[in-house]
Amino acid sequence: MPKILVIHGPNLGLLGVREKAIYGETTLEEINGALTERAKKLKVELEIMQSNHEGEIVDAIGDTKGRFDVILINPAAYTHTSVAIRDAISGAGVPAIEVHLTNIYAREEFRHTSLVAPVAVGQISGFGKLSYILGLEAAVSLTKKK
Ligand code: DQA
Repeated sequence: MPKILVIHGPNLGLLGVREKAIYGETTLEEINGALTERAKKLKVELEIMQSNHEGEIVDAIGDTKGRFDVILINPAAYTHTSVAIRDAISGAGVPAIEVHLTNIYAREEFRHTSLVAPVAVGQISGFGKLSYILGLEAAVSLTKKK
């Protein structure tokens, strides 16, 4: 069964509590529940992690080779700042899909740049919880291409 690593970046553990006007009421637990349910239907195995720590995310990405087929990542604020996460993805040799709950291009200018996008297979941005589900569908389609 194909294996997909889902990585939620910093502050996403506070979804449903944090800046509800921007991110809505959906909690991370609900997103993970929806992903797990869809993964079952699509017959893929998921491992899900959330971290506020850049190095921990870098380590997890570096550990994917031979263990995971695709990485589904919302790098959150690190999207806009982390050369380390970008380099980890480009060095891992495991395809990555970038997702965002909000449309980062419709927000503050500093969010318009993603350091991750150029090393990702693609990006889905702006659909709330659905961004993750669409990202999972895209991840599964990549496992079938191989
Ligand atoms: C986010 C967008 C980022 O700019 C922000 O720092 C986040 C969440 C999103 O999912 O919309 O924490 O990645």
